[in-house]
Amino acid sequence: MRAGEKNILIVIGALVIVMMGYRAMHMTADEPDPGIPFYTTATAEMKREAEIVYKDNDCSNCHALWMVRNMLESVPAPPLDGIGSLRDEQWFYSYFSAENPQAILPTRLKEEYRMPSFAHLSERDRRLLAAYMSSLKVESWYLDEVKRTEYEKLTGKKYQSESHEAGIQN
Ligand code: HEC
Repeated sequence: MRAGEKNILIVIGALVIVMMGYRAMHMTADEPDPGIPFYTTATAEMKREAEIVYKDNDCSNCHALWMVRNMLESVPAPPLDGIGSLRDEQWFYSYFSAENPQAILPTRLKEEYRMPSFAHLSERDRRLLAAYMSSLKVESWYLDEVKRTEYEKLTGKKYQSESHEAGIQN
């Protein structure tokens, strides 16, 4: 074998080893990427219309949605991503229509940080918001995380998941 051929073989050999190493690394580290767990079942039109009402009423001053919120505000309100997997449309409608939302969902916050009443909004806007909120779903593998965040925001206490509690009993 000539020196030139030998060098080519060495280079090819090295490449193969590098590629195998790269693949092996990715096969272990790369559990299939689960991606973003949040999605909506709303039509594009409903989403657009509801987000206008959402914006007009400054909901993002206190809440995160699509993982976006007003960074200048620090109200510890529950994020709304995935909230439609925890409650249904009728609940949201009653909540937005309540003169005193805290009678439905108790608060731990000072007056100015609490969920305001949106009873003054038109019937159409409250229905639209309720329908949109109930369309905000989370994939089941992330549901417990949404429950945990909501519970901790609402109560300020640590959340013990059902599976965690079951684990302690065993
Ligand atoms: C001043 C801050 C503030 C604004 C503005 C606000 N919220 Fe809230 N919201 C809260 C807080 C805080 C809670 C938790 C209950 C409480 O402490 O009153 C809450 C609770 C909720 C819940 C129930 C969450 C759950 O855990 O089930 C929904 C849904 C909701 N808000 C939607 C909205 C929408 C839609 C808007 C705009 C139309 C809005 N909020 C505007 C502070 C706010």
